[in-house]
Amino acid sequence: MIPLDLTGKRAFIAGIGDDNGFGFAIAKKLAEAGCEILVGTWTPIVKIFTKSWNNGKFDESRKLEDGTLFDIAKVYSLDAAFDTPDDVPADVKENKRYKDATGYTISEVAQLVKEDFGTIDILVHSLANSPEVKKPLLETSRAGYLAAMSSSAYSYVSLLQHFGPLMNEGGAALSLTYIASERVIPGYGGGMSSAKAALESDTRTLAWEAGRKWNIRSNVISAGPLGSRAAKAIGFIEKMIAYSEKNAPLIDSFEAEDVANAAVYLSSPLARSVTGVTLYVDNGLHAMGLASDSPTLDN
Ligand SMILES: NC(=O)c1ccc[n+]([C@@H]2O[C@H](COP(=O)([O-])OP(=O)(O)OC[C@H]3O[C@@H](n4cnc5c(N)ncnc54)[C@H](O)[C@@H]3O)[C@@H](O)[C@H]2O)c1
Repeated sequence: MIPLDLTGKRAFIAGIGDDNGFGFAIAKKLAEAGCEILVGTWTPIVKIFTKSWNNGKFDESRKLEDGTLFDIAKVYSLDAAFDTPDDVPADVKENKRYKDATGYTISEVAQLVKEDFGTIDILVHSLANSPEVKKPLLETSRAGYLAAMSSSAYSYVSLLQHFGPLMNEGGAALSLTYIASERVIPGYGGGMSSAKAALESDTRTLAWEAGRKWNIRSNVISAGPLGSRAAKAIGFIEKMIAYSEKNAPLIDSFEAEDVANAAVYLSSPLARSVTGVTLYVDNGLHAMGLASDSPTLDN
């Protein structure tokens, strides 16, 4: 039998705010495989996410193959841009969406998870943020660039730094990247392309460091375009999806579930010797050097 039973394993997934993104799909698949699910949701939206979850808004999406709904053992308020309470600027602390929140920096969330559950086996980083994502790199400010790096790349380093000591040997850490790290995707600005390049490089360095220190694996999935909330905020995701459908080697629709299946594999003992890898789950679009639907090719 293929050993894809994750019963008794526990995953912490950072970056679920609704049922549209990769994080939710990964949580669902890991739950389907028997894993216990803990979630870190961005502090400004954690109340609305929890309320929607409790109200049944996500029930249809929560349905597993046997008809039951998957559950989250606990949702933590998380702002992955901050490592300790001292890092949080006064204006953020006083912001109405943060005022009542406590324990949302990465070190505090790791400590809370340790107190609540002791250990985890799987760590998923499914988050990104750039205040200037709509600006070309050539017009991006230093502050905007560094904010993209902080929220979208260093956050993975920090999560592994703080959750590594809680992870059981043989555990797996995983994040999500985009082809804009290595090929030009006009419009994916604000330093996000740089942040994804850093995330991929850090995945390899951390594979070595976390591998030797804790026997933990570190991989990254380079995903195809998905109409998530984050992607819609960038503004041209529908065009990216249409482009992929026209030009990728595989013409089947690309689904969040495809990424989730790969995430389950990478998190499982089946991938016990796979680390430091960027795995493309994008219908093969990354392999193309030519847009086959280009009108130039008609002549
Ligand atoms: N959607 C795509 O086309 C696509 C393609 C390739 C890679 N990705 C990557 O997939 C990952 C998940 O994104 P998604 O597209 O599923 O969108 P999503 O909106 O479902 O997920 C992004 C999450 O990040 C959270 N977040 C933002 N800043 C945060 C912070 N400081 N602390 C904690 N959480 C924070 C948001 O609240 C949101 O829940 C991201 O790394 C994204 O870059 C997306």
